[in-house]
Amino acid sequence: MAATNSKLLLADIASGIKNVPSNYVRPISDRPNLSAVNSSDVPIPLIDLQGLHGPDHSLIIQQIGQACQFDGFFQVKNHGIAESTINNMLRIAGEFFRLPEEERLKKYSDDPSKTTRLSTSFNVKREKVSNWRDFLRLYCYPVEEYAKEWPENPPCFREVVSEYCSSVRELVLRLLEAISESLGLKQHTIIADSLGRHGQHMALNYYPPCPQPELTYGLPGHTDPNLITILLQDDVPGLQVLRHGKWLPVNPIPNTFIVNIGDQMQVLSNDRYKSVLHRAVVNSDRARISIPTFYCPSQEAVIGPAQDLIDPDHPPVYRSFTYAEYYHKFWDRGLATECCLDMFKTASSSS
Ligand code: OGA
Ligand code: NI
Repeated sequence: MAATNSKLLLADIASGIKNVPSNYVRPISDRPNLSAVNSSDVPIPLIDLQGLHGPDHSLIIQQIGQACQFDGFFQVKNHGIAESTINNMLRIAGEFFRLPEEERLKKYSDDPSKTTRLSTSFNVKREKVSNWRDFLRLYCYPVEEYAKEWPENPPCFREVVSEYCSSVRELVLRLLEAISESLGLKQHTIIADSLGRHGQHMALNYYPPCPQPELTYGLPGHTDPNLITILLQDDVPGLQVLRHGKWLPVNPIPNTFIVNIGDQMQVLSNDRYKSVLHRAVVNSDRARISIPTFYCPSQEAVIGPAQDLIDPDHPPVYRSFTYAEYYHKFWDRGLATECCLDMFKTASSSS
């Protein structure tokens, strides 16, 4: 069976140890420096979507535009996703990671092209230092196509996750319209229309408690390669976002989602909106679960700066490319801090 020659899952080695195994220890120059975290700065914007289709419409569009431009991150409340859908999703993720090892390992694979897989760290085939994370990665759009590959345990996994994915997709489509409008694009479906058949993936991230959190990362600093990410986190802090060269924590607020701009949105917006570095740190007390939904173009979709945003004062910053080309470069490189976007700049903007 594939599982027998695979890496051990972190969750199964982390419990009861006093020291982080050496393959998780970062060089001194590349540690989280947790005491330097910028906890007193203003948090990322929290946007109330309640009035998006009412009298406050233009105010909310403006808030979204500002957040995309200056923070690359914002949180949303009154987003239309039922509290029960959120709680069921978090609960089922916790139950999955508490299943016996042998049950979880049924989905183990090191191959990033697999559409359903459990793995550990980031890309075990490429990286020198491991990350303090296990994850279950699921393709989830169209949901009928992929749900049959998902775990059968816990028993209601497929039902709960299907409902969650469909609700998140609706939220994404609303946000894409709002973001198109905030960019001044005349046609508000233009971003959604440029994504081909659309892709939606999610990760169930599990960060076990770590005996020496100052030596390692859950995930080191990276930008997301996709279009837009909608992250659900449990009540344990760990996400940090880079602002003015300092790491800012994004502390959990119940029933809110964290939205961030990915590399493809930076390209489509011709650099108006920023795909910002973020990371996940771990702690010694409690396991943490986070559930990002990565919304993306389909592989054959051709991505480039939106025509409406190009004029003599704003020449295209990026060349056009297929999402497949971008995605392969991203997984190949491992999680390098330098954003993959630089490899796609036009000759005139890369000097
Ligand atoms: C990711 C990510 C952050 C978190 O999976 O891309 O940034 O808080 N996760 O787990
Ligand atoms: Ni990320």
